Amino acid sequence: MKYIVTGGCGFIGSHIVDRLMSQGHNVTVVDNMSTGFPEYVSQHNGNPNFKLEKFDLKDLPRVKEAFSGQDAVFHLAANADVRGGLDDNFRDLERNVLVTHNVLEAMRANDISKILFSSTAAIYGEPDVFPTPETYHPSQTSFYGASKISCEAFIESFCEAYGFQAWMFRFVSIQGERHPHGVTYDFVKKLKANPREMEIIGDGTSRKSYCHVDDCVEGFFTAFEKASGKVNLFNIGNTEHVEVKKLASYVTDEMGLEDVEYKFTGGTRGWVGDSPLVQLDIGKLRALGWEPKISIEETVRRTVRWLLANPYVYD
Ligand SMILES: NC(=O)c1ccc[n+]([C@@H]2O[C@H](COP(=O)([O-])OP(=O)(O)OC[C@H]3O[C@@H](n4cnc5c(N)ncnc54)[C@H](O)[C@@H]3O)[C@@H](O)[C@H]2O)c1
Repeated sequence: MKYIVTGGCGFIGSHIVDRLMSQGHNVTVVDNMSTGFPEYVSQHNGNPNFKLEKFDLKDLPRVKEAFSGQDAVFHLAANADVRGGLDDNFRDLERNVLVTHNVLEAMRANDISKILFSSTAAIYGEPDVFPTPETYHPSQTSFYGASKISCEAFIESFCEAYGFQAWMFRFVSIQGERHPHGVTYDFVKKLKANPREMEIIGDGTSRKSYCHVDDCVEGFFTAFEKASGKVNLFNIGNTEHVEVKKLASYVTDEMGLEDVEYKFTGGTRGWVGDSPLVQLDIGKLRALGWEPKISIEETVRRTVRWLLANPYVYD
């Protein structure tokens, strides 16, 4: 099969690329390197089944050209930073909604009908049902969440209008090898600068579920293989959640630090769109035989080890 992976030089996208390459598929990555790293896919350089196209998905003619002759699209490219959307109100609209529309248009132009899309738990805003199922009707609390649920809606509309088939995944925070942004990345950065004290955004009591990138990728492939509806929507997460304070203790312990003083900025929400509790109902995907195998503690510890061994992600 010939696959496009948008955002394939990013954290999760590069793991999707590894999986597809290991299965012997032909893979074309489209990435503008805004947050991606060429190092994440450099192991495939020189392989005739691998191609990297560096351009911005906002350029529709180029997207149409790159998608020619492909069988399916893994669409991961996006602004993945919830907080960043507040610095520029057009960021989520352009990088998420318009880019996704371009991806869909390029698929239509090239008779490609299968799309796998990375949505997010952020679309649930601040739910009042836990664990939160896919059927929950949310209110939006961030531009990021609003943009992702808009993407889902456009994808569904293309399924209806043009016979597309979609697999969409709403996932909790993903961590693991190549984790380039988010809470553990920030903690390690702060502790490298000052191993005696660390600022924690919020009051440290927010409770979140985290999932290892290997489990996340396994979820994509399980659903792609086993779910055959027109629109296949799944949560991806873990069976457990932890307080941010606890997560911080895993990080300091893995770094071999003792008696680190935590300084809390205060408040139950760290930023606009932050949710004090994230725990998704993952029963729908589990029913297909998928299971998160890596605990949150092990996920965080593996993330820390990788970050310490690969300091270039902080440059
Ligand atoms: N990491 C998480 O915890 C998490 C949680 C929920 C959802 N998601 C979603 O999963 C997807 C992947 O997230 P990630 O953590 O790997 O992010 P990432 O920032 O590491 O990867 C995104 C990739 O897309 C590329 N990109 C962005 N805009 C582009 C554009 N206009 N044209 C071409 N390339 C572009 C970036 O350069 C980067 O390589 C995103 O859609 C994100 O919203 C991530």
